[in-house]
Amino acid sequence: MKKTVLLLFGGASSEYAVSCVSAACVADNINKELYQVCLLGITADGKWYLYSGDTDSMRDLSWVNKEEYLTPAVISPSKTHQGVLLEDGTVIHVDAVFPVLHGKNGEDGTMQGLLALSGIPYVGCNTYSSAVCMDKVTTKILCEKVGIPVVPYAYFRKNGFDVQKAVEECEQKLSYPMFVKPANAGSSVGITKANNRDELVKGFEVAFDNDYKVLVETGISSAREIEVAMLGNKDAVASVCGEIAPGADFYDYETKYVSDTASYYVPARISDTLSDTIRACAEKIYRTLDCAGLSRVDFFLDENDVLYFNEINTIPGFTPISMYPGLMGKCGYSYSALIEKLIENACEEKL
Ligand SMILES: Nc1ncnc2c1ncn2[C@@H]1O[C@H](COP(=O)(O)OP(=O)(O)O)[C@@H](O)[C@H]1O
Ligand SMILES: [Mg+2]
Repeated sequence: MKKTVLLLFGGASSEYAVSCVSAACVADNINKELYQVCLLGITADGKWYLYSGDTDSMRDLSWVNKEEYLTPAVISPSKTHQGVLLEDGTVIHVDAVFPVLHGKNGEDGTMQGLLALSGIPYVGCNTYSSAVCMDKVTTKILCEKVGIPVVPYAYFRKNGFDVQKAVEECEQKLSYPMFVKPANAGSSVGITKANNRDELVKGFEVAFDNDYKVLVETGISSAREIEVAMLGNKDAVASVCGEIAPGADFYDYETKYVSDTASYYVPARISDTLSDTIRACAEKIYRTLDCAGLSRVDFFLDENDVLYFNEINTIPGFTPISMYPGLMGKCGYSYSALIEKLIENACEEKL
């Protein structure tokens, strides 16, 4: 019998649009002989609908206006339902959920908490791991503890924030240019590069507009960005390394999704020895943070090939041209096979 797989897309997150595109690709490429697909869309302002329209309307974001294809629905937190609950009380039983959601309210443990309560198996990291990986400060603190090299940093909370003292601390511990980031954000939203004190002060304002906790890092000069895809649960393995050359001052939202000036190299233009070191590092990070299902682990290499762990994304961009499926493609997984593997992994004991 076919398994019913629920794809979640959209979401009240700055990465709403990316999620809609990723989910449309998953819906188009999932093996329909094995799986019956249901689509549950979450609007940018957090309204939930079962969506029965076409995937092109997800890609161009017009799905939200197709009223004839929208039925208000939620995932029930009750294990008596194990599925989607419609307004009239109808329940659609679900065998597995693939939350194709990025960033806040999707990748940060909130949705995973609901899915854990529902008793429905789901793709990816559990609540704890998702929340920890979403917070760039917590991620760094835990990884540093097990000897993973991280970029020099300082962090601050909004409550009791003293900009004078913060600037002093940053200038003492770090050096310009600095990167100022909301601790919990994605897609470069709220991130700025500060070349001097004035820009640092401005950077704090921008970052605090997005989060209560802010991370400041020394900017790695001529950073090469190396990314590794992890797939699996207890037996997870690292992909080959990929490399991104942003083609801009840094890999900001514009470069990621609008101007498309970045170049991708799979495999990365590095030696086999360095590649092995980075892959081993990615595996250690994945285990340290109790990840499951999938994650993309991102690193910087400076001009002397010194390695730094940057961040981990537990639900990375998932269009066929995204880095994650690209890296897994090099490891022998077609896009459809990758989806199947993720759903299989969701249904087994993860940790
Ligand atoms: N310490 C740093 N040194 C150099 N470049 C950085 C640094 N931190 C961030 N960047 C640049 O900013 C981009 C976005 O930062 P990142 O921490 O990956 O946030 P996001 O979660 O938004 O992807 C990176 O891909 C990189 O181009
Ligand atoms: Mg990043």
